[in-house]
Amino acid sequence: MRVLVTAEQIRDRIRELGAAIGRDYPDGVLLVAILKGACFFLADLARAITCPVRLDFIGISSYGKSKTSSGEVRLTKDLDTAIDGADVLLVEDIVDSGITLNYLAGVLEQRHPRSLRIAALLDKPDRRVRPVDVAYVGFRIPDEFVVGYGLDYAEQYRNLADVCVLGDVPEP
Ligand code: IMP
Ligand code: MG
Repeated sequence: MRVLVTAEQIRDRIRELGAAIGRDYPDGVLLVAILKGACFFLADLARAITCPVRLDFIGISSYGKSKTSSGEVRLTKDLDTAIDGADVLLVEDIVDSGITLNYLAGVLEQRHPRSLRIAALLDKPDRRVRPVDVAYVGFRIPDEFVVGYGLDYAEQYRNLADVCVLGDVPEP
């Protein structure tokens, strides 16, 4: 496994993102994390944000044990709170094909938030098949499968402190 983004780089970048978000939402923001990968990013980002924050979580069907998307998205856990009139920031670990966030943004827009933006720790722009407007990006990375800092392969490696490139592990 090769380290792509170190824990220290992540910490420094999140401090910058938190400061920018605090400036952009002086009255506060509702952070909505996408389970489960975004939880680590959410926990550090929330503590770096200098305005009032509220937290909620949304669950979607994931890749399962494959490294590639099935192209299908399904809600597995809805928000606990209504978001009409709220300033919502969707927090995601990585934008890959864009299918997940394109779908989720559509679902949440129908509930009439006052604003809806996206923050993603990692972005793989080369892989995009659906358009996604990511307002806050931690790092743009090449088209490689990564694990750590919340990101998994078949539910493993989420607890690595660094973001690492997973070598040629055979698909289960
Ligand atoms: P998208 O719908 O293709 O943009 O996929 C987004 C989701 O796929 C992310 O929330 C991750 O759970 C997963 N994913 C995409 N790329 C990677 C990767 O390199 N490592 C681990 N998970 C990934
Ligand atoms: Mg995910």
